[in-house]
Amino acid sequence: MPAIFSRSLDGHLRRAAVGLGVAVTLFVIGWYYYALPSYTRVGYQPDQPVPFSHELHAGKLGMDCAYCHQSVFESPHASVPAAQTCMNCHNPKMANVKGNSPLLAPVRASYDTGKPVEWKRIHKLPEYAYFNHAVHTNKGVSCVSCHGQINEMKVVWHDQPLSMGWCLKCHNDPHEHLRPFDKVTDLTWKPKPGTGAEIAQQLAVKAPMSCQSCHR
Ligand code: HEC
Ligand code: HEC
Ligand code: HEC
Ligand code: HEC
Ligand code: HEC
Repeated sequence: MPAIFSRSLDGHLRRAAVGLGVAVTLFVIGWYYYALPSYTRVGYQPDQPVPFSHELHAGKLGMDCAYCHQSVFESPHASVPAAQTCMNCHNPKMANVKGNSPLLAPVRASYDTGKPVEWKRIHKLPEYAYFNHAVHTNKGVSCVSCHGQINEMKVVWHDQPLSMGWCLKCHNDPHEHLRPFDKVTDLTWKPKPGTGAEIAQQLAVKAPMSCQSCHR
């Protein structure tokens, strides 16, 4: 077939077409990849009705995660505390730490009416995926592996993807994520070489890879 344009122009056009093709392909792959829920989720940080700071309460004041997230060692769900828990300190009639602060008005209202504070949910798996906190926390997997450095967050954000690939990456080799049981809520604890392997053996850790473990 004869060249439509001069030889050199034809070459330019062909290179331009190839270049455009590559750019479009990369754009589509990139869009697909980053638009998947697991990637748009990371960094999600909704405004909360009360400016509750984990950095202050769990970090500076050193309160244990389980003081507020009471069911995290016993049940699939970690539970967010009722106003009663906050009122242990913020009740104007008792301990009275900033008891009349306007920032705490929704907490006082919840305490009086029994209607929960409307905290916005940050981490949420799709219905078809099964997750269980107690299984993980009792085998020495720390909150920090899945939620990041919550003890340093003024406002909680979504730190890890919580995607299937992310779950499987740890399940395939959980050693570096295992720590002694009493350090699970100590987010500043740093592992020493060999600890993970020791704990894996002691607790006979075997994280499932089969579809029906997580899709029941
Ligand atoms: C004084 C009570 C208190 C303590 C202590 C506390 N939290 Fe929380 N936590 C809350 C409240 C209230 C919320 C809901 C508001 C928010 O997201 O900040 C929450 C939210 C969260 C969330 C996000 C939940 C969601 O919607 O997905 C995570 C994760 C979390 N906490 C982890 C931790 C960890 C880890 C620790 C220990 C380092 C901890 N918390 C200590 C009260 C507490
Ligand atoms: C063990 C005691 C304790 C508990 C329980 C507690 N807090 Fe606090 N909170 C404090 C202290 C101490 C401060 C800092 C007070 C100061 O700055 O003088 C504080 C400060 C605050 C502030 C800032 C108030 C202001 O006006 O500056 C908010 C908001 C708050 N807490 C929300 C909560 C919520 C919501 C809960 C329950 C999920 C909670 N706290 C549970 C001790 C507690
Ligand atoms: C192995 C990963 C993993 C570990 C370890 C983990 N979480 Fe979670 N957390 C999740 C996932 C996944 C969700 C979303 C669950 C859902 O949608 O059913 C979640 C949700 C939450 C929520 C929202 C309420 C709920 O139960 O859905 C809170 C609060 C929370 N986690 C606190 C904690 C605390 C505190 C710790 C440590 C004591 C902890 N988590 C350890 C993965 C983890
Ligand atoms: C940081 C490591 C880590 C991450 C991340 C992780 N897991 Fe696990 N998972 C484990 C370990 C360790 C076990 C415990 C194995 C055992 O019981 O010996 C486990 C066990 C389980 C089990 C078995 C529960 C049962 O009833 O036997 C399920 C289901 C599960 N994980 C789901 C998930 C899902 C869903 C995610 C992602 C949202 C996830 N895991 C993320 C480490 C992890
Ligand atoms: C350790 C837990 C775990 C195991 C094992 C697991 N999945 Fe998943 N899977 C998940 C989670 C969590 C999601 C939700 C991911 C999200 O929301 O981004 C998911 C999502 C999916 C989806 C929806 C599409 C997608 O990629 O988001 C399909 C299809 C799926 N899984 C099939 C499977 C099959 C087939 C197997 C067995 C080969 C399997 N899963 C094993 C945790 C698991």
